[in-house]
Amino acid sequence: MIVGLNHIAIAVPDFEEAVERFLLDFGLNFKGTEDVVAAKTKTAFFPIEGTQIELIHPLTKDSPVQKFLDKRGGGLHHICFETDALDEDVDRLKEKGYRFITDEPQIGAHNSRVIFIHPKSAGGVLIELMEST
Ligand code: CO
Repeated sequence: MIVGLNHIAIAVPDFEEAVERFLLDFGLNFKGTEDVVAAKTKTAFFPIEGTQIELIHPLTKDSPVQKFLDKRGGGLHHICFETDALDEDVDRLKEKGYRFITDEPQIGAHNSRVIFIHPKSAGGVLIELMEST
């Protein structure tokens, strides 16, 4: 069952500049950065009122985030719902016809299990499902 909005992710072409914007200009709390090797993504998290802003930046040239930036520039990338039963939710949504980017969950930030619903299945929005830890 989906139990919360874990984060909203923004793809940023200039990581340092974006971190400074959210930290210094907007004055958000900064939880730190993390390289998510499995997703070829560099991340920074800013917790706010029960959710977080996640900045994402390519870790490698062949990162999916690089493809997103090449195609669309920086901007909103995905939202992430937290679930207390990831496999059950995936099965339930697959039965309803939702398509996923990968067949199986991968390891995301903070070592959590995550999977992405294809935006074509979800009204043009890339949705990440993340298992509560
Ligand atoms: Co995310």
